[in-house]
Amino acid sequence: MMENHPGVNKTNGQAQGKICQFKLILLGQSGVGKSSSVLRYINGLFHEYSEATFRPRFVTHTVCLDDTTVKFVIWDTSGQSRFSCWGGIQSRGAHAAIVVYDITDYDTFSKVREWVNMLESRTSPNIVIALAGNKSDLANKRMVEFDKAQAYAEENGFLFMETSAKTAMNVNEIFLAIAKKLLENGSGGAGQQPFDGYIDLTETRDRSEERGGCCNMCKQQ
Ligand code: GTP
Ligand code: MG
Repeated sequence: MMENHPGVNKTNGQAQGKICQFKLILLGQSGVGKSSSVLRYINGLFHEYSEATFRPRFVTHTVCLDDTTVKFVIWDTSGQSRFSCWGGIQSRGAHAAIVVYDITDYDTFSKVREWVNMLESRTSPNIVIALAGNKSDLANKRMVEFDKAQAYAEENGFLFMETSAKTAMNVNEIFLAIAKKLLENGSGGAGQQPFDGYIDLTETRDRSEERGGCCNMCKQQ
């Protein structure tokens, strides 16, 4: 994933000598704020009303870290159980993931382990996983203790931050922390699939329907 581009070497931090491209996927229950976090990160915007995501979709975003340009291909997935297969399928080849829960909804935190299991069954062991406790602006309605989530993340070697897509708290920071960890790990991990940029979702859905679902989360429906 890491390439040398001697011709690209502009000053003022806009472009760098090395370019890395990483596939990052957001997972988590419906309504936790995955799409809102992406919108905040990419466009600096927040909408009080956000339509539920149906098909996975990706956007790209570039950050500069020292002498390296990191290009993220960010996949936003649906948290609705009837579409969770697609999140699983889309996890293939991911170098990093943000598993999002809502600090005001304990159920979304209790489902984190299932998202992680699904992720780990489909990706390299070297994947960088970050846990994001979103909606931190609603601290007065908190149902998930910071310390509990942090302890879970530490036990499992995940990055952890509480974020708010509404106020922007820690949104840039969590993506930046992931970029740094990916670079520390080397080229994104041995055995990773190169980013293919396109998956035929229609065909994939048909095949998983034939098998009666592609993962435990789907079979629960
Ligand atoms: P699916 O696409 O169904 O999986 O949901 P999602 O995880 O993408 O959630 P989405 O971003 O659509 O947000 C759901 C609702 O939560 C919307 O009404 C958002 O405005 C709201 N929301 C998202 N992030 C925050 C946040 O940080 N704080 C507050 N107060 N509300 C938020
Ligand atoms: Mg969404």
